[in-house]
Amino acid sequence: MSKRDFLAMEEWSPEAIDHLLALAVRCKRGEIEGGLVKKVLAMVFMDPSLRTRASMETAMFLHGGHALNLEPGKGSWALETELDTVMDGATVEHIIEMARVLGRYADALAVRSFPKGTDWAVEREDRTIRNFARYCDKPVINLESSRRHPCQGLADALTIREHLGETARKRFVLMWAWHPKALPTAVPASAAIAAAHLGMEITIARPAGYDLDPDDYRAIESLAKGRGGSLQVTDDLAGAIAGAHVVYPKSWGSLLHFGTPDAERSLREGKRDWRLTQPRMGTTAGGRGIAMHCLPVRRNVEIDGEVLDGPNSAVIDEAENRLHVQRALMLELIGDRNGY
Ligand code: CP
Repeated sequence: MSKRDFLAMEEWSPEAIDHLLALAVRCKRGEIEGGLVKKVLAMVFMDPSLRTRASMETAMFLHGGHALNLEPGKGSWALETELDTVMDGATVEHIIEMARVLGRYADALAVRSFPKGTDWAVEREDRTIRNFARYCDKPVINLESSRRHPCQGLADALTIREHLGETARKRFVLMWAWHPKALPTAVPASAAIAAAHLGMEITIARPAGYDLDPDDYRAIESLAKGRGGSLQVTDDLAGAIAGAHVVYPKSWGSLLHFGTPDAERSLREGKRDWRLTQPRMGTTAGGRGIAMHCLPVRRNVEIDGEVLDGPNSAVIDEAENRLHVQRALMLELIGDRNGY
């Protein structure tokens, strides 16, 4: 039987995602014990993390398993991710051997690798996570790659369901936010895919020049329509937020200027008002729309402190739900299936 990876939410069927979310609810209620005894998850973090690392380690521990953490270049050998290369520079370990060797020790491999390059045409292929999946013979889990953060998407979907109950045709706004750095598009694309899975009416509010990759728009729209929802894209932030049930502010860099930071910075200039404020939250549905963010968040830059600390904030629930969806994911991928 071929192995099953979790690289992008939309690559699993809606039924499989709903099954995972239902299992996550049972984990959260304390209904499932064990299931991962003596199972090992090898985690490779090529970029920093708080939530992803802590929640994955906790998820494995809670069910009797173990997670080991490797940081290439900081305690494990500097990693070469290019397949066809002559390794006569700084890198020591090749991705092919790393993937194959960890597959001999662990039951699953989980990888975080942000985009590093200067060319979106290359980064959009998501080669690092896809090559780990290609060369490791155990399930590979994406802990945020160039294109997707599917564990975050699962947590987003669970959080929206918990707060809204019925989600079909409710309004989800993915709002571009100003930030001092050009950030990746993996989280915003994955959040919109999560809302699409829930059949929501999705609005992406962004200034000109900040469109997501066209393939992301196609994936979001196709999934949303298949689930009874819709997608629209606008630069009218006030119009988008008015009546919204969920507002998800997130910054991302312009793909038009990927790899040319000076040009990107110029485009971003003058857009600091793209920030989630309390007056803006007051215009959401009944004034009770929820504010979400994957975290870490820059207070009073992306979201005002009074929103983060206020009654509409779902950001800590969202972070907690990373734990429960990943417990479900690990049980589904490598669990022993006894008792649940
Ligand atoms: N949301 C998220 O992935 O957080 P970390 O980057 O801290 O893991």
